[in-house]
Amino acid sequence: MDSEQLPLSGRTALVTGAGRGVGRGIALALADAGARVAVNDLYAERAAAVAAEATARDGTALPLAFDVTDEQSVADALARLREQAGGVDVLVHNAGVLDGGGRPSRFADMPVADWRAQLDLNLAALMLLVQQVLPHQVEQGWGRLVQISSGASAQGLPIGVAAYGAAKAGGEGLMRHLAVEYGPHGVTANSLALGLMEGLGRADEPRVRRMIDSVPVRRLGTGADAGAAVLWLASEPGGYTNGQVIHLNGGTVFGR
Ligand SMILES: NC(=O)c1ccc[n+]([C@@H]2O[C@H](COP(=O)([O-])OP(=O)(O)OC[C@H]3O[C@@H](n4cnc5c(N)ncnc54)[C@H](O)[C@@H]3O)[C@@H](O)[C@H]2O)c1
Repeated sequence: MDSEQLPLSGRTALVTGAGRGVGRGIALALADAGARVAVNDLYAERAAAVAAEATARDGTALPLAFDVTDEQSVADALARLREQAGGVDVLVHNAGVLDGGGRPSRFADMPVADWRAQLDLNLAALMLLVQQVLPHQVEQGWGRLVQISSGASAQGLPIGVAAYGAAKAGGEGLMRHLAVEYGPHGVTANSLALGLMEGLGRADEPRVRRMIDSVPVRRLGTGADAGAAVLWLASEPGGYTNGQVIHLNGGTVFGR
């Protein structure tokens, strides 16, 4: 297909935490769809590897390593990106798992630094990023903001992730407000709340088998599933979807 006809031709996207896992799938899907994709990660080598993978598939991608929780790093990286590729038309804040996985614990036992780290990564970083990209999106009258959220925002779980769930729910609330504030400027804001995704272990492990059996479609989600959903939200046909939390979870029913 002529690259001019691809759904995101001419658009610049930034995907955070895209050096592996779900973010990698999203970055590749957007690059395949013609976007120029900035691949962010804490680790430069992860960002470079995914950018190279996208380029090898005939996409356009550049690695952009920085810590999304650090205000100055965010400002500097976004300034660099504006110089290299113009403003960000599509922002996907996907980085949401603390480096090293975080330390799940019952809330009363959770050190303040640990729950603050969840808020920093899942909520404050989203706010920092959005403030960087909105001026360009409003000026051109077109933009897409996508928060990668989790079912943990909507369902209580007894696995020590209260702060993570609260931070994700906060992000969803932010997006709902941004949808109304900026919809009139051509900017949509949505959350994609993921269910059980691949990478939680091998399919033959009994623990993982039980997870798979709990999903109505009897499989775990993939980065490609998330990429397809983000592509929909980012492309023109997705433009009437605004202020929504879309649960991408194979039909998992909460509470079972
Ligand atoms: N995997 C799941 O089952 C699942 C389920 C629900 C929601 N989610 C959400 O999906 C998103 C991706 O999850 P994943 O499982 O692919 O994570 P992952 O840990 O496999 O990858 C995340 C990437 O983010 C990077 N990162 C971490 N902190 C960063 C920071 N401060 N700045 C920049 N990059 C940073 C890491 O280096 C890593 O490469 C997260 O928002 C997570 O909350 C995942």
